[in-house]
Amino acid sequence: MSITTPDRLAHTSVPISEVIAGRWSPRSFDPTAAFEETALVAALEAARWAPSASNTQPWRFIVGRRGTDTFRRIADALVPFNAAWAASSHALVVNIAETSTADGTPLPWAIYDLGQAAATFNLQAHKSGLHTHPVGGFDVDAIRASFGLDERLVPVTVTAVGVLGSPDALESDMLRERETAPRSRKDLDEIVLVND
Ligand SMILES: Cc1cc2nc3c(=O)[nH]c(=O)nc-3n(C[C@H](O)[C@H](O)[C@H](O)COP(=O)(O)O)c2cc1C
Repeated sequence: MSITTPDRLAHTSVPISEVIAGRWSPRSFDPTAAFEETALVAALEAARWAPSASNTQPWRFIVGRRGTDTFRRIADALVPFNAAWAASSHALVVNIAETSTADGTPLPWAIYDLGQAAATFNLQAHKSGLHTHPVGGFDVDAIRASFGLDERLVPVTVTAVGVLGSPDALESDMLRERETAPRSRKDLDEIVLVND
């Protein structure tokens, strides 16, 4: 099952997969909605099956479901703007890059690989009827300290996961306007530098 909100659909020059066109990052999550645990596991499975350099799989995740101490510790590390809306999500996932192996070998594509895993997580979650919102606004050192991460493990983003809520549930006009603002992207000819 996927949930597509028609006015949030990406406008594309040719048709693309509905899962990709329909994914977007809301800030309103419904904390009262039923949540399919298997959908969260499926998103983690999708991340697990992302491609990576030499199949090194340098992604690690900390998953906190709302109501747990883990959720609270992740939420506490978010900047106030993000903490306010992310509190209603069902789970917060810290996306971590393993930047070198335990024996010190650098993994130079770790952040690229983690990004691919996070992207497949988002798309599988959307396919399962959930919504996700990636967040860079958080205190990396607070996450490191809270979960005892060593230098090799770099928290890169946090993903809020949940069931889409109504824009009306957001607490400020600014957030409500952002929630319904038209989605936009650069044109294809701006991002494809050479296309022979
Ligand atoms: C690495 C990264 C960091 C982000 N950080 C934040 C953030 O701190 N707060 C926030 O509200 N949204 C954040 N976003 C969400 C983006 O603003 C959003 O993905 C972008 O505007 C495109 O919108 P869409 O995902 O709905 O297509 C982040 C997204 C990414 C990929």
